[in-house]
Amino acid sequence: MKRAVIAGYSRSPFTMARKGELIDVKPVNMFAEVVKNLVSKTKVNPADIEDIVVGCAFQVGEQSFNIGKLTTFLSGMEIHTSGMTVDRWCGSSMEAIHVAAGKIAMGAGKVFVCGGVESMTRVTTGFEPIPYPYTDKENPNVYFSMGITAENVAKRYKISRTEQQEFAIQSHQKANEAEVNGKFKNEIVEIAGCTKDGNIRPKSNQETLDGLKLAFDQEGTVTAATSSPLTDGAAATLICEESYAKENGLEILARIVSTGVKGCEPDVMGLGPIGATKKALERANLSINDIDIVEINEAFASQSIACLKDLGIDKKKANLDGGALALGHPLGATGARITGKAADLLRRENKKYALSTQCIGLGMGIATVIESVN
Ligand SMILES: CC(C)(COP(=O)(O)OP(=O)(O)OC[C@H]1O[C@@H](n2cnc3c(N)ncnc32)[C@H](O)[C@@H]1OP(=O)(O)O)[C@@H](O)C(=O)NCCC(=O)NCCS
Repeated sequence: MKRAVIAGYSRSPFTMARKGELIDVKPVNMFAEVVKNLVSKTKVNPADIEDIVVGCAFQVGEQSFNIGKLTTFLSGMEIHTSGMTVDRWCGSSMEAIHVAAGKIAMGAGKVFVCGGVESMTRVTTGFEPIPYPYTDKENPNVYFSMGITAENVAKRYKISRTEQQEFAIQSHQKANEAEVNGKFKNEIVEIAGCTKDGNIRPKSNQETLDGLKLAFDQEGTVTAATSSPLTDGAAATLICEESYAKENGLEILARIVSTGVKGCEPDVMGLGPIGATKKALERANLSINDIDIVEINEAFASQSIACLKDLGIDKKKANLDGGALALGHPLGATGARITGKAADLLRRENKKYALSTQCIGLGMGIATVIESVN
């Protein structure tokens, strides 16, 4: 079996949907800018790129029409480069990486750009009920508001509002520290004059967060501060065969060791990372104690806390530069951000194994285990 490596990672600034600096940028343009940066930064020969695989959760309107192939035109690829768009909802761009890793393993291509994009300015989720038949009365146990699933997890794991807020405050503090110390510089690509993430609130504290109204359930504990904000953003990784990377002098950030996806109950979809991580670890023949770096998507504070506790992960290992509560969660882009980030952190922190994992609406989790090549 041929081995796949991560040989580069770039992303756009992540900014607030409908309020932030990227609201006027079309998703395909945003993604194409990130891809152009990735190609020039990694110095990969664009003629060698087999396929651009893009995750996008809501492929409607300006996010339809196969962003993957459209990107080949907008990022200056050769005409022979293919493109496709995948949908595993919040896990879409991590899935894009898994698709490439699988193709590389079977010899169906050596070089792939895998990433994702979501302009939540342009999609309805979070703003209006999702107009989909499964949300109707005949199937009441399939689709739940994501916020209600966060409330359900908080109840099941007895996670108080204060504990959720503490987790969110730390996310903002870590993200702010990373930003101030220039730790996002090598990953963020300037888009339409915007160079900085737009959601980080370093002044968040228990007192201010206590004052926020409940977002989903007036008897519950989840607020806007303990939910990932609706976000516009794009992220991309370069995934290639290890021997190709070595022969062409590309810098390898990490090798992909194993992957996993697993369904769970839709009403507690935030617990998805637990089953997916266990599967990926088993396939890697590793235990959770072997993992040095964890990137877990902070869709909500409650589900992140529950997953870390359930999996026995020391929170000091998780989301070193902050997570989605501070940075935002543009659905289709997040999987590439956290997997690219995990790879970058392995190198920066000089560690051996990393895990990236996230929960997915309708009840799923997805996970990737990577290792240092040094
Ligand atoms: C929770 C949610 C409904 C909030 O939406 P919103 O009300 O538009 O959010 P806002 O950013 O305006 O925040 C609401 C208020 O909280 C404040 N706030 C949010 N985070 C804060 C923080 N960390 N510190 C201080 N104030 C904060 C905002 O300033 C705003 O205050 P204002 O009303 O005085 O302007 C929305 O972010 C959401 O749906 N998130 C989940 C998205 C999702 O489901 N993703 C998929 C996950 S699987």
